[in-house]
Amino acid sequence: MENSKMKGKKQGTKAVWAGQTELFYQGATQVPIVNSVTFGYDNVDDWFDVAIGKKEGHIYSRNTNPTVAVFEEKVRILENAEAATSFSTGMAGISNTFSAFLSQGDRVVSIKDTYGGTSIIFLEFLPKHGIEVTLCDTSNHEEIELEVKKGCKMLYLETPTNPTLKILDLKRLIKCAHEVGALVVVDNTFASPINQQPLELGADIVLHSATKYLRTFRCHGGVVCGAKI
Ligand SMILES: Cc1ncc(COP(=O)(O)O)c(C=O)c1O
Repeated sequence: MENSKMKGKKQGTKAVWAGQTELFYQGATQVPIVNSVTFGYDNVDDWFDVAIGKKEGHIYSRNTNPTVAVFEEKVRILENAEAATSFSTGMAGISNTFSAFLSQGDRVVSIKDTYGGTSIIFLEFLPKHGIEVTLCDTSNHEEIELEVKKGCKMLYLETPTNPTLKILDLKRLIKCAHEVGALVVVDNTFASPINQQPLELGADIVLHSATKYLRTFRCHGGVVCGAKI
């Protein structure tokens, strides 16, 4: 369904229809999986226009792919974001965010209850690259604010946390981080965009392990995927 038609629609409707360029692809009720790696055009000029971004289309599936594009657009609309991109797993999206935004000498403030894979990056990988990490008691907002005020490049939050299900006051912590010019990243996996939209609360970047609720609101175990919005 055209994205302009998604305005004002409820999250459930967006989850079903957003991002689809056609309602039914040759009658299919699900978006078909296009597993072609490369895409062909009638002539090289058309290929070139797509390659340089003058015309919409796909060239190579590592960059863009029709099925993946629908997924990204769906997540973008659900999170009310400017743009969305996807990864093979949630951890790939999280690692990419750190490597894209952090450099040697930067400082990150986060919480002790982030997902285990994220905690390992904080405890083992980032320090190896000269990035200082401070992990605060998740239930202690005063401590998080105090550490943020000392200065940091990024405040990284996850709420509810997996698996401890602790809850953060996003609005309060985001406000504090923005006062010191820090980027705020929120892992929204456990809330899903149905229940919480961190960008609306001021966050700069939202991450998902699409392996969980984004994949389906029914059960866990069929798909591994990540998204960054
Ligand atoms: C909150 C949260 N973030 C990130 C991840 C990592 O995602 P993935 O397993 O898709 O790499 C998980 C996985 O359990 C998670 O629960």
